[in-house]
Amino acid sequence: MQHEKISSWAWLSLFLLTIFHPPAQGTAETMRQMFPAYALMENIDLVNSSRCRAEMEEFRNGVDNKILWSLRVLDSNGMPSSGFVNGNNFWIGDRQNCKLLSENHTLLFSEDVRKNNSIYRNPKEEFPPFKVHFFAARIRHNSTLQYHTEVMMNENLITLGFCLPASCTNHDIATMLEKVLNERKLLIGELFSANFEIIEITDLVDDHQWLFSAKIIFIVGFLVLFCGLVAVATVYDVLIHKKRTKNKKEIFNFENNNTNSKPRDTSADELKNEIEEKCETDQEDSVSPKSKSPSNVMEYVLCFSFVTNTRQIFKAEESADNVRIFHSMKVLGNLWIILCHIIFYTTHITANKTIAYALSDTLAAQILANGTLSVDTYFFISGFLLTYIFFKGQSKDKKVPSLPVRIKQYIELFVKRYIRLTPAYFVVILLAIFYFTWKDQTSIILPVERVNVVCSKYWWTNMLYINNLYHWNDISSFITSLNFTDYFRHCNTAVSLGVVTLFSSLGSILYFSYTLNFVPTLDKQYSTLTDLYIRPWVRIVPYLVGMAISYLLIKWNYKLHLSKKSLIVGWALSILCNCSILFGLTDKNIPFSLSIIYSTLSRTGWSLGIAWLVVACCTNHGGIICKFLSSDFFVPLSRLTYCAYLVNPFVILGICASRSFPDYIDYYNIAAFFLTVSVISYIIAFLISVTTEVPFIKLLRLYNNRQKRMK
Ligand SMILES: *[C@@H]1O[C@H](CO)[C@@H](O)[C@H](O)[C@H]1NC(C)=O
Ligand SMILES: *[C@@H]1O[C@H](CO)[C@@H](O)[C@H](O)[C@H]1NC(C)=O
Ligand SMILES: *[C@@H]1O[C@H](CO)[C@@H](O)[C@H](O)[C@H]1NC(C)=O
Ligand SMILES: *[C@@H]1O[C@H](CO)[C@@H](O)[C@H](O)[C@H]1NC(C)=O
Repeated sequence: MQHEKISSWAWLSLFLLTIFHPPAQGTAETMRQMFPAYALMENIDLVNSSRCRAEMEEFRNGVDNKILWSLRVLDSNGMPSSGFVNGNNFWIGDRQNCKLLSENHTLLFSEDVRKNNSIYRNPKEEFPPFKVHFFAARIRHNSTLQYHTEVMMNENLITLGFCLPASCTNHDIATMLEKVLNERKLLIGELFSANFEIIEITDLVDDHQWLFSAKIIFIVGFLVLFCGLVAVATVYDVLIHKKRTKNKKEIFNFENNNTNSKPRDTSADELKNEIEEKCETDQEDSVSPKSKSPSNVMEYVLCFSFVTNTRQIFKAEESADNVRIFHSMKVLGNLWIILCHIIFYTTHITANKTIAYALSDTLAAQILANGTLSVDTYFFISGFLLTYIFFKGQSKDKKVPSLPVRIKQYIELFVKRYIRLTPAYFVVILLAIFYFTWKDQTSIILPVERVNVVCSKYWWTNMLYINNLYHWNDISSFITSLNFTDYFRHCNTAVSLGVVTLFSSLGSILYFSYTLNFVPTLDKQYSTLTDLYIRPWVRIVPYLVGMAISYLLIKWNYKLHLSKKSLIVGWALSILCNCSILFGLTDKNIPFSLSIIYSTLSRTGWSLGIAWLVVACCTNHGGIICKFLSSDFFVPLSRLTYCAYLVNPFVILGICASRSFPDYIDYYNIAAFFLTVSVISYIIAFLISVTTEVPFIKLLRLYNNRQKRMK
């Protein structure tokens, strides 16, 4: 009886097999056209390795017979997805699922659900009988039907994911894929008249070999030593130094606290985290480190104490300054820059590129599209603060130094500024090389440029600030403005020089806008970036406005009598001005003459609007807006501005490099990503600032004091 039952089952299954296997010719044809992985399996004869061939064969038979595991594997393979015309070149498949399959990972359910599930799924057929592995193929297509934004590189690079037997090599897959692509078997190629060319096949395996290159060993060694230094300094500070200082305090109870061994910032100038050292020559003599500090070496080491430096960052601003609002302006400006960087540095993982481009015509997106205005705000702040500090220091020594002395001062200031900015930058670049060397092995979506390669190659240009527009601009305007402040001594010269620079700058923008046929579409803005955005001389106007406003405020002694009417007019004008500049280009289809006027005057107008805000706040006409902008909350964050500015592009690229799926741009996605990136950036900025930025400021100060004492 038993025997008969079995044999009838055998007959039935044989019968079924003849029906379903081989599958109807039409089905196989469709499968081949839709699933690149299935099309690959038709070319297994090209493969030399018998194991790979056998496993591929088994996989194909499984798919033809609809065996569960093979369908699951096929389902993890990438295939052309919708949105090709709008730039979706991500046929990535499901890398995570492929990994779960290779690990025989079962989903844990409660007993009764599992029992019910087993009615539909045979648990024995859930996993492939061989190890599977995820491969990524990078392919270039030449379809002209796809819309390109012209704003980014590699817009025709397709990433195709494969979940295939681990016994197959990259070369095997490349051979099979080449045949598939050459024979134009894929439907999508037919449909959009695309030809394909394989760039590379990678297996995205992290074999940890990258850890053993000289570069990485150097970086790790350096960072470990550096952390060691910080640790030693912190332990010394907490265990030994603190006690000693406490004792001293008890003894000299009546003495001024400032005689503590550690130099303290005393003046309000401390606000200018960013440009601190400009005022240092004027400020230092207020500090009198006459303590009998432990030893010279330990004094230097103490600069690296984590605890003290943390306190330094979170220390409340001591004086109620009338330029407090710059703290918040720096923080908000930096957040704005992060927001724009998010759009700029995620284009390579954006699947709906054309849609994102179309969104740039909406009102809200203008805040993103015109993000460069935030940099102009920075220039304004820099110009303002430089002048402010210059005049604060000037009261102390009236005499005009001779030319050689002045040149020496410039060089000194320049070197100090370099030392002030570079260590943090250096550490950030080392971290970036380390992280992206690792991610480069494993990240499925290629970044626009390979950060570790670029950084390793060009780190020295970074160190010299040759290639970075922000710093280069900053430094060059810094030099220029040093000259200006010098001329402030002779007021008329300064004013006429400023006016000449202003008009020549505006003139050059006008000239380039005209000759380059500037229209404010995104692609044109991008292609004219060098001439209309990067060059220092086209960006100097906000700087000049900042300096002028600062000068005026000092002249008025921060007091200005304004009637209610003029206040209202002032606010209305500035809001109108800045809003029209910010949102004026929602419709980018404007006449040529108008777009030239816009490109010439927008940055000037923007800085004038900011100027009103600053004037109103500094002269106590700001009301609730200025109260908010001057709140204490912004002070520590503003001290982290420089580091946060440095790290945020790497944070964005780092998150992108870890993702297994492309991104789709919409407002909620951007908002969520913005929050994540801001928080992570400021946390990392805090760590870097406390361990490198603050210590080197302190070292500079210590050095200055030493020099003063020696005189
Ligand atoms: C399992 O299936 C039975 C019958 O099909 C149904 O009554 C029961 O609710 C199912 N249990 C669960 C946990 O889904
Ligand atoms: C996973 O399961 C399959 C079939 O059930 C088996 O052949 C294979 O050896 C298992 N692999 C691992 C890593 O356990
Ligand atoms: C198979 O072997 C031939 C001859 O040795 C070689 O030319 C070919 O590249 C090999 N194919 C693969 C996929 O390794
Ligand atoms: C794409 O490439 C193929 C083969 O190289 C070529 O024949 C075809 O003309 C190209 N198409 C376009 C639009 O350039």
